Amino acid sequence: MTTTPTRVTRTSPVSRVDDDVATRLLESSRLLSFDPMTEVDWDAPLDPTLYGLSPEWSTLYGTPLWDTMSEEQRVTLTRHEMSSIMSTGIWFEMILQQMVLRDLYATDPGRAEFQFGLTEIADECRHSIMFARAMEKMGIAAYYPTRTAIELARGYKTLATGESAYGGVLVAEEVLDIMQRDLMRDDRILPIIKDTSRIHVVEESRHMTFAREEMKASLVGVGTLRRHHSALLISIVASVIVGNLVNKDVYAAAGLDPARAIEAARTNAHHASMMRSSSAHLMEFLGETGLLTGPARRIYQRLHML
Ligand SMILES: [Fe+2]
Ligand SMILES: [Fe+2]
Repeated sequence: MTTTPTRVTRTSPVSRVDDDVATRLLESSRLLSFDPMTEVDWDAPLDPTLYGLSPEWSTLYGTPLWDTMSEEQRVTLTRHEMSSIMSTGIWFEMILQQMVLRDLYATDPGRAEFQFGLTEIADECRHSIMFARAMEKMGIAAYYPTRTAIELARGYKTLATGESAYGGVLVAEEVLDIMQRDLMRDDRILPIIKDTSRIHVVEESRHMTFAREEMKASLVGVGTLRRHHSALLISIVASVIVGNLVNKDVYAAAGLDPARAIEAARTNAHHASMMRSSSAHLMEFLGETGLLTGPARRIYQRLHML
């Protein structure tokens, strides 16, 4: 006679995300996950005419300076911009892996939330190696966030919990999502960038659902003071991420005058509108969850996310 094992739940200090949602995410990961080491053709030679980013996503596209650049400079610039974005991606993936791992510490391993959280960490681990390899293939050394950003994030990743931790995760994932959806379909860019973007878009869509669910669950019953504090903290994290996405050294790498290029990028209305449209979904969610407070709103406006 076979007996159906009954699940015994022992004390677990935290349990938040609905089991059905986490189970669905876990099942989706089992059905559709990628191994970038075999999924991407790393040995194919790089076509020197292909961009690193869709030109429309370059921080200089649409400026008078862009019109003066040679095709070779545009290719070089977009490859460096993409490498900087991937470097920032690795930096933030390391932050979020630590936050998720800390969040799951001593919780019930039988829960789908626990198992999906670890699945997400495994995804991010593969993503970071994938981005590292793409930069290596392009022959571009990693870019680093500013010293201040590195130290601020050290505190954040050690202390943030609940909606503040998952809010930062969500911001980082949403900011890249719309751009990568364009890259995965663009034949003007390097195949390694197309392929790595496709893998990232598929796996990150589950992470974004998970982050939104974690945030909603954390916000149940919280008071105004905490909500305002979290809203501000998430917007500050957004400002650190967005501010460090494209390193200022990319312009010199493309043979441009750094001061002139930095100014052109800063006042680029086209890029500002790309940022706004790619942040629309995130802003809608933050609005629904009460995280678009006045001070946070002002920060997002300054970042052209709102
Ligand atoms: Fe990732
Ligand atoms: Fe992620």
